[in-house]
Amino acid sequence: MLTQEEIKQLVAKQAAQLVQNNMTIGIGSGSTIFWLIMELGKRVKGGLFFRAIPTSRKTAALAAQCNIPLAELNAVTNIDITIDGADEIDPQLQLIKGGGGALLQEKMVAAASRELLILADASKLVKQLGKFPLPLDVIPFGWKQVQRHIRETYHVEAILRMEDDQPFITDHGHYILDCPFQHIEHPDILTYDLNAIPGVADNGLFVNMADIALIGYPDGKMETR
Ligand code: 5RP
Repeated sequence: MLTQEEIKQLVAKQAAQLVQNNMTIGIGSGSTIFWLIMELGKRVKGGLFFRAIPTSRKTAALAAQCNIPLAELNAVTNIDITIDGADEIDPQLQLIKGGGGALLQEKMVAAASRELLILADASKLVKQLGKFPLPLDVIPFGWKQVQRHIRETYHVEAILRMEDDQPFITDHGHYILDCPFQHIEHPDILTYDLNAIPGVADNGLFVNMADIALIGYPDGKMETR
């Protein structure tokens, strides 16, 4: 049986084969995407040329170490494919993302892409979204007003994400509020409503964005959804 890390490596290896010469690709963030970057680095060494839009500083730094040519989102008109991870995937391929705090850039890059491919091990598959606390990317100024709004509207206690006893700071200087909704019945409505709260830059629901998911299992099998 494969470990979770080995499964991530397996799906990443398969996904790296989809990248072709001269493509512009988006590269997501997280531990699954770490392996994708390693595989893409090998392909660059082998002579493949493509350019990549990173979705976080961590991804950019890692990709640069692997000699992957980088471009900014503002510098491109089209992204052929974005490959990213997810924290939860439901049967309609609706997602919760943002476990690593990069949801804002991840959604912007995904939205600019012709195709969004999600890589995950089977533990990310759920019947209904919501067990994984939904991350909200919020402007630090007045973040408690957002927390209060979530409490009063949804009876959910949003938790300020911390790192080393300090608020976790995103690449854009924002905070993350993790919201344990438990059951999200209508992700399409919820994403719209959350993004209408003043101070919310974006939320981790990716609704109707993923085109395909490559899922790996402990026995080494893979399936696409
Ligand atoms: C980061 C993300 C990641 O894609 C998500 O958290 C999955 O990460 P991992 O591959 O480490 O499980 O959305 O903001």
